[in-house]
Amino acid sequence: MTHTYAVVLAAGQGTRMKSKLYKVLHSVCGKSMLEHVVDHVQEVGAERIVTIVGHGAEKVQDKLGNRSEYALQSDQLGTAHAVLQADAVLGKLAGTTLVVCGDTPLIRPNTMQELLKHHQDTSAKATILTGISEDPTGYGRILRDEQGYVKRIVEQKDASVDEQKVREINSGTYCFDNEALFAALKLVKNDNSQGEYYLPDVIEILKNQGEIISAYATNDFEETLGVNDRIALSQAETLMRKRIAEKHMKNGVTIISPTNTYISADAIIGYDTVLEPGVIIEGASVIGEDCLIGPNSHIKDSKIGNRTTVHSSVITLSTIGDDTTVGPFAHIRPQSEIGNEAKIGNFVEIKKTKLGNKSKVSHLSYLGDAEVGERVNIGCGAITVNYDGKNKFLTTIEDDSFVGCNSNLIAPVTIGQGSYVAAGSTITKNVPAQSLSIGRARQENKEGYVEKLNLK
Ligand code: UD1
Ligand code: CA
Repeated sequence: MTHTYAVVLAAGQGTRMKSKLYKVLHSVCGKSMLEHVVDHVQEVGAERIVTIVGHGAEKVQDKLGNRSEYALQSDQLGTAHAVLQADAVLGKLAGTTLVVCGDTPLIRPNTMQELLKHHQDTSAKATILTGISEDPTGYGRILRDEQGYVKRIVEQKDASVDEQKVREINSGTYCFDNEALFAALKLVKNDNSQGEYYLPDVIEILKNQGEIISAYATNDFEETLGVNDRIALSQAETLMRKRIAEKHMKNGVTIISPTNTYISADAIIGYDTVLEPGVIIEGASVIGEDCLIGPNSHIKDSKIGNRTTVHSSVITLSTIGDDTTVGPFAHIRPQSEIGNEAKIGNFVEIKKTKLGNKSKVSHLSYLGDAEVGERVNIGCGAITVNYDGKNKFLTTIEDDSFVGCNSNLIAPVTIGQGSYVAAGSTITKNVPAQSLSIGRARQENKEGYVEKLNLK
C-alpha cells in the first residue's frame, strides 16, 4: 500500500476576513475551520500531517497541538511556496500527498478518499478535486484541451474573459505523487498578476513533463466552498449546520426546525430526543435518548441523561441525570452535577453544586458551592449565601431535609439529614440531623393598634 501524507495550508493572514483572528481559526459550527480540515485528513488516514503556519503560527499550533507537524512559511509568497516549506519534512518520501487548504472546511473525508482512489486508478502524478459552480468568481478555473484532459489552472485574476466563463473550479484540494510534487514546486515561477508562487502551476509543469494529470469532480459544489470573507463564512456555517442536523435526524433525533437549531460539530444526541426551535448545543455536549430540549435552550459542553426535559434554560459545563426536568428559565452554571429524577424549576440558578437524586429546587432559588443530598426539597426563594466578598464557602444539605421558603443558608454550614429549616430563617449555625431549625424574629401581633394610632 502506498503511504499517504497531508499538507494543510494555513499560513495566510486572510486579509479579506478583515479580522484580528487568523482566517483558519474562525469557527464553523463551533469548531475552527482548521480543526475541521485536520479532522478530515486524519479520518482519511494520512500518516503524517504537516500544517504550514505563518501568520499566527503560535495560535495555530496551540489549537492543533501534536495532531500535526509544522513547517513555517515566514513570508506568504503564495500557495506553492507554502507547500515547499514542507520539503524538509516530506520531500524525500515516496507516497501520495494530499494538499488541502485550511479554509475549505466542508470537503468531506469521503470525497478526499474518492479523490485518492481516482488518483491511483488513473496512475496520475497529480489529481485535482474540482467542482462545477454557478458563480465561479474568485476561484481558479480548470482549463481542458480538446480531448477533455486538464491542461492547467488559471487564477481569477489572470484569467481572460473567455477563461472566466469556465464554471469548473479548482477546490484547492489535490493529491500528488509526493516526489514529483516537490520536484515541480522548485520550478514554479511568480510571473503572474499577483507576483505569487501558485500551487496550481504545478499542474502545468507536470503536464509539460508528459505526466498524467487527473481531475475528480465532486457533484456537490457546496463542499468546495472556500472561505475568504465573512459572507462565505456564514455560508459555510449554514451548510455545515444543515449537514450536522441531517446527520442527527438520520440517527433518529427529531429536530422541529433545523434552520433554527444550532448543533456543534462534536455534539452527540441519542435517538428519540426532540429538539424544539431555537435550541443551541455547543461544544462536546452529549444528550441522551428520549429527551425533550425545549425552545431556546442553550447547552454548552454538558452531559444530559435520558428522558430528561430542558425548557428555555442555559446549561454550561455541567451534568444532568436521567428523568430530570430543568426550567423554564433555569441557569445551570459550570461544575454542577444534577442527579436523576431531580427537578429544577423556574428562575433557579445553580453553580458548582451537586444536587442528589429526586431532589427539588422548584422556584426562584440560588444554590452556589453546595452539596445537596437525595430527596431534598428546597423551598421557593431559598438561597445559599456562599460569598463574603472575598471567599466562597460550602453549604452541605443532607439527604431528606427540607429547606423552607426564603431561607438564607449562610455558608459554611451543614443542614443535617432529615432536618427542617423553617421558612424565612437565616441559618448561621449547623442544623443537627432530624431537627427543626427556626432562625427568624418571633412574630408579635399588636391587637387594636390601628385604632390606637387614630389615623382614620
Ligand atoms: C486558492 C487557489 C485557487 C482555488 C482556491 C480554492 C492558488 C494560487 N489559488 O485561491 O485556484 O480555486 O484556493 O479555495 O492556490 N496560504 C498559505 N501561504 C500563502 C498563501 C496562502 O499558507 O503564501 C494558505 C491560506 O492560508 C489558505 C490557502 O493557502 O488556507 C489558500 O489561500 P487563499 O489565499 O485563500 O487562496 P485563494 O485565493 O482562495
Ligand atoms: Ca481561499
